[in-house]
Amino acid sequence: MSNMQQAGAVVVHGGAGAPKENEDGCVLAARRALAQLEANGDALDAAIIAVTTLEDDGRFNAGSGSALGLDGETIEMDASIMDTRGRLGTVAAVRDVKNPVKLARAIADTPHVMLVAEGAQRLARSLGMPGGAPISEHQRAEHRQIMKELAGAVPAMPGIDNRLFDRFWNYKTPLQLPKSSACDTVGAVVRGPDGHFAVACSTGGSAPCLLGRVGDSPIIGSGFYAGSLGAIAATGIGEHIVRHLLARTVYGWIEHGMALDEALKRGVDLFPKEVAIGLIGVTRTEACAYDNQGMPYTKMTQR
Ligand code: GLY
Repeated sequence: MSNMQQAGAVVVHGGAGAPKENEDGCVLAARRALAQLEANGDALDAAIIAVTTLEDDGRFNAGSGSALGLDGETIEMDASIMDTRGRLGTVAAVRDVKNPVKLARAIADTPHVMLVAEGAQRLARSLGMPGGAPISEHQRAEHRQIMKELAGAVPAMPGIDNRLFDRFWNYKTPLQLPKSSACDTVGAVVRGPDGHFAVACSTGGSAPCLLGRVGDSPIIGSGFYAGSLGAIAATGIGEHIVRHLLARTVYGWIEHGMALDEALKRGVDLFPKEVAIGLIGVTRTEACAYDNQGMPYTKMTQR
Protein backbone atom coordinates (compact mmCIF):
# COMPACT_ATOMS: atom_id res chain seq x y z
CA MET A 1 0.00 0.00 0.00
CA SER A 2 1.53 3.36 -1.03
CA ASN A 3 1.65 6.45 1.19
CA MET A 4 -1.14 7.99 -0.91
CA GLN A 5 -3.45 5.21 0.24
CA GLN A 6 -5.00 4.41 3.60
CA ALA A 7 -6.25 1.13 5.00
CA GLY A 8 -9.77 0.31 3.90
CA ALA A 9 -12.27 -0.29 6.70
CA VAL A 10 -15.70 -1.89 6.93
CA VAL A 11 -18.37 -1.81 9.66
CA VAL A 12 -21.46 -4.00 9.27
CA HIS A 13 -24.52 -4.24 11.53
CA GLY A 14 -27.46 -6.64 11.66
CA GLY A 15 -30.03 -4.35 13.28
CA ALA A 16 -30.60 -2.55 16.58
CA GLY A 17 -32.14 -4.97 19.05
CA ALA A 18 -31.51 -8.00 16.79
CA PRO A 19 -30.04 -11.15 18.41
CA LYS A 20 -26.30 -10.98 19.12
CA GLU A 21 -25.96 -14.67 18.23
CA ASN A 22 -26.48 -13.70 14.58
CA GLU A 23 -23.23 -11.72 14.58
CA ASP A 24 -21.51 -14.43 12.52
CA GLY A 25 -23.62 -13.18 9.60
CA CYS A 26 -22.08 -9.71 10.01
CA VAL A 27 -18.59 -11.24 10.13
CA LEU A 28 -19.17 -13.09 6.84
CA ALA A 29 -20.62 -9.92 5.29
CA ALA A 30 -17.61 -7.83 6.37
CA ARG A 31 -15.15 -10.45 5.09
CA ARG A 32 -16.84 -10.40 1.70
CA ALA A 33 -16.74 -6.61 1.72
CA LEU A 34 -13.01 -6.60 2.46
CA ALA A 35 -12.43 -9.15 -0.33
CA GLN A 36 -14.36 -6.86 -2.68
CA LEU A 37 -12.20 -3.92 -1.59
CA GLU A 38 -9.11 -6.00 -2.38
CA ALA A 39 -10.56 -6.85 -5.79
CA ASN A 40 -11.41 -3.37 -7.07
CA GLY A 41 -11.03 -0.86 -4.22
CA ASP A 42 -14.59 0.46 -4.69
CA ALA A 43 -16.11 1.29 -1.30
CA LEU A 44 -19.67 1.19 -2.67
CA ASP A 45 -19.27 -2.26 -4.24
CA ALA A 46 -17.93 -3.45 -0.87
CA ALA A 47 -20.86 -1.96 1.09
CA ILE A 48 -23.35 -3.52 -1.33
CA ILE A 49 -21.83 -6.99 -1.14
CA ALA A 50 -21.96 -6.79 2.67
CA VAL A 51 -25.64 -5.85 2.66
CA THR A 52 -26.49 -8.41 -0.04
CA THR A 53 -24.92 -11.09 2.19
CA LEU A 54 -27.22 -10.11 5.06
CA GLU A 55 -30.27 -9.86 2.76
CA ASP A 56 -29.59 -13.45 1.68
CA ASP A 57 -28.89 -14.74 5.20
CA GLY A 58 -32.54 -15.15 6.18
CA ARG A 59 -32.08 -14.34 9.89
CA PHE A 60 -32.06 -10.54 9.51
CA ASN A 61 -34.99 -8.22 8.83
CA ALA A 62 -33.99 -7.52 5.22
CA GLY A 63 -34.25 -9.34 1.89
CA SER A 64 -35.10 -13.01 2.44
CA GLY A 65 -35.57 -12.47 6.20
CA SER A 66 -37.91 -9.47 5.93
CA ALA A 67 -40.75 -9.08 8.39
CA LEU A 68 -44.18 -10.15 7.11
CA GLY A 69 -47.20 -7.88 7.19
CA LEU A 70 -50.10 -8.79 9.42
CA ASP A 71 -51.75 -10.67 6.59
CA GLY A 72 -48.85 -13.13 6.81
CA GLU A 73 -47.86 -12.67 3.19
CA THR A 74 -47.18 -9.03 2.30
CA ILE A 75 -43.54 -7.94 2.44
CA GLU A 76 -42.51 -4.36 1.67
CA MET A 77 -38.83 -3.43 1.77
CA ASP A 78 -36.68 -0.28 1.73
CA ALA A 79 -33.00 0.10 0.79
CA SER A 80 -30.43 2.78 0.02
CA ILE A 81 -26.91 3.37 -1.25
CA MET A 82 -24.70 6.47 -1.26
CA ASP A 83 -21.03 7.20 -1.82
CA THR A 84 -18.59 10.06 -2.24
CA ARG A 85 -18.36 9.47 -6.00
CA GLY A 86 -21.87 10.92 -6.19
CA ARG A 87 -23.82 7.70 -6.46
CA LEU A 88 -27.15 7.90 -4.61
CA GLY A 89 -30.13 5.57 -4.98
CA THR A 90 -33.01 4.55 -2.74
CA VAL A 91 -36.03 2.28 -3.01
CA ALA A 92 -39.08 2.21 -0.76
CA ALA A 93 -42.05 -0.10 -0.13
CA VAL A 94 -40.95 -2.47 -2.89
CA ARG A 95 -42.34 -6.02 -3.03
CA ASP A 96 -41.00 -9.27 -4.45
CA VAL A 97 -37.39 -8.29 -5.07
CA LYS A 98 -34.63 -10.58 -3.79
CA ASN A 99 -32.03 -7.89 -3.13
CA PRO A 100 -33.48 -4.39 -2.69
CA VAL A 101 -29.97 -2.98 -2.12
CA LYS A 102 -29.02 -3.98 -5.68
CA LEU A 103 -32.16 -2.24 -6.91
CA ALA A 104 -31.16 0.91 -4.99
CA ARG A 105 -27.77 0.70 -6.73
CA ALA A 106 -29.49 0.38 -10.12
CA ILE A 107 -31.72 3.39 -9.36
CA ALA A 108 -28.54 5.44 -8.83
CA ASP A 109 -27.88 4.92 -12.57
CA THR A 110 -31.30 6.30 -13.59
CA PRO A 111 -32.15 10.03 -13.71
CA HIS A 112 -33.85 9.62 -10.30
CA VAL A 113 -32.73 9.03 -6.72
CA MET A 114 -35.79 7.22 -5.34
CA LEU A 115 -38.36 4.80 -6.74
CA VAL A 116 -41.20 3.29 -4.75
CA ALA A 117 -43.61 0.36 -4.82
CA GLU A 118 -44.79 -0.88 -8.22
CA GLY A 119 -42.53 1.37 -10.29
CA ALA A 120 -39.50 0.12 -8.41
CA GLN A 121 -40.61 -3.48 -8.87
CA ARG A 122 -41.09 -2.92 -12.60
CA LEU A 123 -37.56 -1.56 -12.90
CA ALA A 124 -36.24 -4.62 -11.07
CA ARG A 125 -38.09 -6.92 -13.49
CA SER A 126 -36.90 -4.99 -16.54
CA LEU A 127 -33.33 -5.38 -15.30
CA GLY A 128 -33.84 -9.11 -14.82
CA MET A 129 -33.49 -9.01 -11.04
CA PRO A 130 -34.91 -12.09 -9.30
CA GLY A 131 -38.07 -11.94 -7.21
CA GLY A 132 -38.17 -12.61 -3.49
CA ALA A 133 -37.49 -16.03 -2.01
CA PRO A 134 -40.46 -18.09 -0.77
CA ILE A 135 -41.46 -17.15 2.78
CA SER A 136 -39.31 -19.13 5.20
CA GLU A 137 -40.24 -20.92 8.41
CA HIS A 138 -38.16 -18.31 10.29
CA GLN A 139 -40.28 -15.48 8.84
CA ARG A 140 -43.49 -17.35 9.64
CA ALA A 141 -42.32 -17.97 13.23
CA GLU A 142 -41.56 -14.28 13.72
CA HIS A 143 -44.96 -13.44 12.32
CA ARG A 144 -46.70 -15.95 14.60
CA GLN A 145 -44.94 -14.32 17.56
CA ILE A 146 -46.28 -10.90 16.54
CA MET A 147 -49.76 -12.30 16.10
CA LYS A 148 -49.52 -13.78 19.59
CA GLU A 149 -48.44 -10.42 20.95
CA LEU A 150 -51.33 -8.72 19.20
CA ALA A 151 -53.59 -10.30 21.74
CA GLY A 152 -51.82 -8.29 24.46
CA ALA A 153 -52.27 -4.68 25.47
CA VAL A 154 -48.65 -3.49 25.22
CA PRO A 155 -47.88 -0.59 22.84
CA ALA A 156 -46.79 -1.73 19.37
CA MET A 157 -43.66 0.41 19.48
CA PRO A 158 -42.34 2.65 22.23
CA GLY A 159 -43.51 6.17 21.60
CA ILE A 160 -46.03 5.22 18.89
CA ASP A 161 -49.71 5.71 19.65
CA ASN A 162 -51.52 2.43 19.01
CA ARG A 163 -54.86 4.14 18.62
CA LEU A 164 -53.61 5.36 15.26
CA PHE A 165 -52.89 1.80 14.17
CA ASP A 166 -56.37 0.89 15.26
CA ARG A 167 -57.95 3.74 13.33
CA PHE A 168 -56.00 3.49 10.08
CA TRP A 169 -55.12 -0.19 9.89
CA ASN A 170 -55.34 -1.37 6.27
CA TYR A 171 -54.72 -5.06 6.61
CA LYS A 172 -57.65 -7.45 6.75
CA THR A 173 -56.47 -8.72 10.12
CA PRO A 174 -58.01 -6.76 13.00
CA LEU A 175 -55.45 -5.01 15.17
CA GLN A 176 -55.55 -5.34 18.94
CA LEU A 177 -52.71 -3.29 20.36
CA PRO A 178 -49.61 -5.46 19.80
CA LYS A 179 -46.41 -5.58 21.80
CA SER A 180 -43.23 -4.06 20.31
CA SER A 181 -41.72 -6.03 17.47
CA ALA A 182 -39.31 -5.90 14.54
CA CYS A 183 -37.92 -2.59 13.36
CA ASP A 184 -34.37 -3.46 12.50
CA THR A 185 -32.26 -2.90 9.44
CA VAL A 186 -28.98 -4.17 8.05
CA GLY A 187 -26.28 -1.77 6.98
CA ALA A 188 -22.64 -1.34 6.04
CA VAL A 189 -20.27 1.62 5.93
CA VAL A 190 -16.96 1.41 4.08
CA ARG A 191 -13.80 3.49 3.76
CA GLY A 192 -11.98 2.67 0.55
CA PRO A 193 -8.19 2.67 0.31
CA ASP A 194 -8.50 5.69 -2.02
CA GLY A 195 -10.27 7.74 0.68
CA HIS A 196 -13.79 7.38 -0.75
CA PHE A 197 -16.65 6.48 1.60
CA ALA A 198 -19.85 4.51 0.99
CA VAL A 199 -22.94 3.37 2.87
CA ALA A 200 -25.65 0.80 2.07
CA CYS A 201 -28.79 -0.13 4.05
CA SER A 202 -31.70 -2.53 3.65
CA THR A 203 -34.75 -3.40 5.73
CA GLY A 204 -38.03 -5.27 5.77
CA GLY A 205 -39.38 -2.28 7.71
CA SER A 206 -41.28 -2.44 10.95
CA ALA A 207 -43.78 -5.01 12.11
CA PRO A 208 -46.60 -4.34 12.62
CA CYS A 209 -47.03 -1.40 10.28
CA LEU A 210 -49.54 0.04 7.84
CA LEU A 211 -49.19 -1.00 4.19
CA GLY A 212 -47.06 1.57 2.37
CA ARG A 213 -45.20 2.58 5.50
CA VAL A 214 -41.63 3.80 4.84
CA GLY A 215 -39.02 4.16 7.58
CA ASP A 216 -35.66 5.92 7.80
CA SER A 217 -33.59 3.49 5.75
CA PRO A 218 -34.32 5.00 2.30
CA ILE A 219 -34.42 8.61 3.55
CA ILE A 220 -31.16 10.45 2.90
CA GLY A 221 -29.73 11.99 6.04
CA SER A 222 -32.00 9.92 8.29
CA GLY A 223 -30.99 6.28 7.90
CA PHE A 224 -27.78 6.91 5.96
CA TYR A 225 -25.31 9.55 4.83
CA ALA A 226 -21.87 9.63 3.16
CA GLY A 227 -19.67 12.68 2.69
CA SER A 228 -16.01 13.53 2.25
CA LEU A 229 -15.35 13.01 5.99
CA GLY A 230 -17.03 9.64 6.41
CA ALA A 231 -20.15 7.50 6.20
CA ILE A 232 -22.90 6.84 8.77
CA ALA A 233 -25.74 4.27 8.94
CA ALA A 234 -28.56 4.17 11.50
CA THR A 235 -30.85 1.38 12.67
CA GLY A 236 -33.91 1.30 14.92
CA ILE A 237 -37.42 2.67 14.81
CA GLY A 238 -37.57 4.81 11.69
CA GLU A 239 -40.39 7.00 12.97
CA HIS A 240 -38.00 8.23 15.68
CA ILE A 241 -34.84 8.34 13.54
CA VAL A 242 -36.32 10.58 10.83
CA ARG A 243 -37.30 13.24 13.36
CA HIS A 244 -33.61 13.72 14.19
CA LEU A 245 -32.25 13.38 10.61
CA LEU A 246 -29.97 11.12 12.55
CA ALA A 247 -27.25 10.14 10.07
CA ARG A 248 -26.75 13.71 8.83
CA THR A 249 -26.89 15.10 12.38
CA VAL A 250 -24.11 12.73 13.47
CA TYR A 251 -22.12 13.59 10.34
CA GLY A 252 -22.52 17.28 11.19
CA TRP A 253 -20.90 16.73 14.58
CA ILE A 254 -17.97 15.05 12.82
CA GLU A 255 -17.70 18.09 10.52
CA HIS A 256 -17.36 20.18 13.65
CA GLY A 257 -14.43 18.06 14.83
CA MET A 258 -16.09 15.55 17.15
CA ALA A 259 -14.50 12.09 17.31
CA LEU A 260 -16.61 9.39 15.62
CA ASP A 261 -17.13 7.27 18.76
CA GLU A 262 -18.34 10.33 20.67
CA ALA A 263 -20.64 11.39 17.81
CA LEU A 264 -22.23 7.92 17.58
CA LYS A 265 -22.82 7.82 21.33
CA ARG A 266 -24.31 11.32 21.29
CA GLY A 267 -26.59 10.26 18.43
CA VAL A 268 -27.86 7.17 20.25
CA ASP A 269 -28.31 9.15 23.45
CA LEU A 270 -30.78 11.47 21.70
CA PHE A 271 -33.35 8.69 22.20
CA PRO A 272 -35.00 7.26 25.30
CA LYS A 273 -33.55 3.89 26.34
CA GLU A 274 -36.70 1.96 25.41
CA VAL A 275 -36.34 3.04 21.76
CA ALA A 276 -33.82 0.62 20.19
CA ILE A 277 -31.24 2.62 18.21
CA GLY A 278 -27.86 1.75 16.70
CA LEU A 279 -25.31 3.64 14.64
CA ILE A 280 -22.21 2.62 12.70
CA GLY A 281 -19.68 4.89 11.04
CA VAL A 282 -16.30 5.25 9.37
CA THR A 283 -14.11 8.33 9.03
CA ARG A 284 -10.58 8.79 7.70
CA THR A 285 -9.14 7.38 10.94
CA GLU A 286 -11.95 5.58 12.79
CA ALA A 287 -14.45 2.73 12.40
CA CYS A 288 -17.03 2.39 15.20
CA ALA A 289 -20.45 1.14 16.27
CA TYR A 290 -22.70 2.13 19.18
CA ASP A 291 -26.18 1.07 20.31
CA ASN A 292 -28.45 1.10 23.35
CA GLN A 293 -30.06 -2.37 23.41
CA GLY A 294 -27.55 -4.73 21.82
CA MET A 295 -26.86 -5.07 18.12
CA PRO A 296 -24.96 -7.68 16.09
CA TYR A 297 -22.10 -5.93 14.31
CA THR A 298 -18.47 -6.26 13.31
CA LYS A 299 -15.69 -4.00 12.09
CA MET A 300 -12.68 -4.98 9.99
CA THR A 301 -9.72 -3.12 8.54
CA GLN A 302 -7.55 -3.96 5.53
CA ARG A 303 -4.03 -5.06 6.43
N1 GLY B 1 -35.02 1.32 10.63
C1 GLY B 1 -35.90 0.55 9.88
C2 GLY B 1 -37.25 1.10 9.76
O1 GLY B 1 -37.72 1.81 10.64
O2 GLY B 1 -37.87 0.85 8.77
